Amino acid sequence: MGAGTVIVGTGQAGFQAAASLRAEGYAEPITLIGEESHIPYQRPPLSKEFALGQQDFESIQLRPQAFYQDHRIELLAGQKVMAIDRVARSVTLDSGRRIPYEKLVLAVGSRNRRLRVPGAELDGVVYLRSLDEAMVIRDCLEIAGQVVIIGGGFIGLELAAVARTLGKTVTVLEALPRLMSRAVPPVISEFFQKLHTEKGVRVVCGAAVTKIDGSAGNVRNVALSDGSRFPADLMIVGIGVGPNVELARDAALPVANGIVVDEYLQTADENVFAIGDCVEFPCVFASARIRLESVQNAADQAQCVAATIAGRRNAYKALPWFWTDQYDVTLQMAGISQGHDRVVTRGSAETRKLSAFYFRENRLIAIDSINRPLDHMVGRKLMAAGVRVTPEEAADESFDLKKLAQTAGTGIIRSNR
Ligand code: APR
Repeated sequence: MGAGTVIVGTGQAGFQAAASLRAEGYAEPITLIGEESHIPYQRPPLSKEFALGQQDFESIQLRPQAFYQDHRIELLAGQKVMAIDRVARSVTLDSGRRIPYEKLVLAVGSRNRRLRVPGAELDGVVYLRSLDEAMVIRDCLEIAGQVVIIGGGFIGLELAAVARTLGKTVTVLEALPRLMSRAVPPVISEFFQKLHTEKGVRVVCGAAVTKIDGSAGNVRNVALSDGSRFPADLMIVGIGVGPNVELARDAALPVANGIVVDEYLQTADENVFAIGDCVEFPCVFASARIRLESVQNAADQAQCVAATIAGRRNAYKALPWFWTDQYDVTLQMAGISQGHDRVVTRGSAETRKLSAFYFRENRLIAIDSINRPLDHMVGRKLMAAGVRVTPEEAADESFDLKKLAQTAGTGIIRSNR
């Protein structure tokens, strides 16, 4: 028995890499190491059902504790990898323990950007990424009356919906001119701005937060550059994340907007792979190398790398997809819409059932679906298989996209890849 595989990071990517290695029949030792003291859990519910108090820790665990023993996965939770020695092929933990590897998988994820204005360190200014932070937010929400959310992205808006559902007074302060602009085009941003406004959230776009005031160490209000002020007894900051690249960089591995990997998710070192939020990779569905922050990307990249390590070398080709839940609205996104030159829609914003289809040079590159799950599923099939669909067909409600998707992979038709 050799040194086996060491996986750094116990998020969705790290967990899935370990589970998939065993599913692939890999028999060597697997060591799964993570800083968080909890066994691996799902993060998406933290800003949704968990924050609302509808789910507890047990229900968001990826697997029960026994899974790790049963599958001979040595789980080192609450331990931090400090350094990688690529020559000796070992990692060093904060305890000083060295663990040898044959293959190393970096699934080290991302961390929250911090708000850098005076007063940002006051009590009552909170962030969300980990379970521990989610528990703080859940407790704070119970007693808070006025909640200000800084950042109108996924985290900010999901928590705005939670806070509003719990009856709080909620303000969202977004720096850019529209909501969720990193991930969706204007048609979707406008829908969500209207939705939150109708639910009673005050949404301010183009907001430049300059300082936070407090009294007795607690947050009291936040000031914008135009002089306006918003009172708050809880301030939630969700202003984006950045990749954790330090471990790789210190080991002299190339990093850009993430740890640089090739189509096999391999770094410049053939024994070191990287997956999930922390990597910049060549995506076949985008025009440039990209970094993605999603459960789908973490889980699919983990499966891909597990197959390669188990001896079935495998290039990464999965179609990106994402989702967010806000109130009773689910937005599902498939493909990468950046760079589109045409948008057509099905359904309507009024009925709260709307899909937007994005084309580049007449080729379907992405679909955003609001409460239209079938469009999302069908769209994923069409794009993954490279089946051609025209903007006119996409816009025509009577054209049967599902039927078209059923031809995917049959070789009958219309491939444009
Ligand atoms: N003030 C107000 N808004 C800001 C500021 C600021 N100083 N800085 C950034 N923002 C805004 C951005 O313009 C963006 O709209 O914060 C928003 C951050 O949105 P996301 O990039 O979606 O990041 P976040 O909501 O923090 O989510 C982080 O968690 O749910 C996952 O996959 C999701 O990757 C996402 C991650």
